[in-house]
Amino acid sequence: MFETLEMAPPDAILGLNEAFKKDPNPEKINLSVGVYQNDEGKTLILNCVKQAERRLIDEESSKSYLGIDGLPEFGEQLRQLVFGPEHPIHAEERVVTLQTPGGTGALRVAADFVRRKFPQSSVWCSRPTWANHPSVFDAAGLPVKQYDYIDDSGTGFDFDAMIKSLTQIPGGNVVCLHACCHNPTGIDPTIEQWKQISQVVHDRKLLALVDYAYQGFGDGLVEDSRGLYELCSLNREMLLCTSFSKNFGLYGERVGGLTIIAETSDAVQAALSHAKKCVRVNYSNPPKHGAAIVSTILADKKLRLQWESEVAEMRTRINGVRQQFADTMKGKAPAHDFSFITAQRGMFSFSGLSPLQVDELRQKHAIYIVGSGRINIAGITSANIDRLCNAIASVL
Ligand code: LMR
Repeated sequence: MFETLEMAPPDAILGLNEAFKKDPNPEKINLSVGVYQNDEGKTLILNCVKQAERRLIDEESSKSYLGIDGLPEFGEQLRQLVFGPEHPIHAEERVVTLQTPGGTGALRVAADFVRRKFPQSSVWCSRPTWANHPSVFDAAGLPVKQYDYIDDSGTGFDFDAMIKSLTQIPGGNVVCLHACCHNPTGIDPTIEQWKQISQVVHDRKLLALVDYAYQGFGDGLVEDSRGLYELCSLNREMLLCTSFSKNFGLYGERVGGLTIIAETSDAVQAALSHAKKCVRVNYSNPPKHGAAIVSTILADKKLRLQWESEVAEMRTRINGVRQQFADTMKGKAPAHDFSFITAQRGMFSFSGLSPLQVDELRQKHAIYIVGSGRINIAGITSANIDRLCNAIASVL
């Protein structure tokens, strides 16, 4: 049967990463996949993670299956982290969490749940969005549509166009929003803008599906949740997909969660029961180790403080690199303004580079950037920034 198969096209992001690994050029630079690197270009294990793992090795007594919705303490810690300990949502008992294999797992369970229970719904994604969003939703059988997000320059926010297109979405549909550090553009709404987005979602009777993969990478762990608070204050139902790949550096452990918020406690329990059905037929129940690391860290005062400072260190480096990159480009290509990079947040920026320029960077300079022009800022280091900026200046 397999003799008839032709090769599938490589993945827009992970496929590039594979090509990078095979490139023999010793000066190659990888700005493709969203993985944090320190200034030495290394993706190290966080110290708090190492300590939590040591503790788990000593104290863990069983590797038996978790429940379909995962570790209960993990869900509890996730909600406290995302909403803050004082948020009324906790006492109202209308929020539940399923531990999932990464943020992608959460998105897929959310999509399967919507498709099964609300088969008439479409999902509306920002134009552009993370390349895997439409693929995940499509794989679950959900029609995918787009709302406007960036302006004609390709590097700025067109908020009016966003609101205008959200206002045209028929009620009962799902709108996929990025809580912070928009992937791929790095362009986030202000709090005032979030208030308006929340109002439109409410007035149009839309269901917000929020992707929250970069908490702590924008302006701070609490600050990054502010858009989400605005959404929750008006909208009593929501699907929230969290990833701990980046902020705990637990990429390969696949740690994430799908949090469901409903109007009432009964409604949220019913929604959970259906989401569990989607999990059981997909991966049965989630993997334990990564979630146990996260809940161990968040439950322990000392480890948590250490984690907060390690997240702050990653955030500070990324925001510093943004400035450095804009300054260096000013010197190398004064006719081109890259100052927008400093206003963007998170791991990624939309550089404004065309697919042709991206291709030239790869062919001539062994610099790997996603075709859309998305740059992983966290892949820029003191050792490669000069070569990178020279190469970009040469293709402009
Ligand atoms: C990215 O956008 O590069 C990351 O979220 C990794 C991935 O799975 O695509």
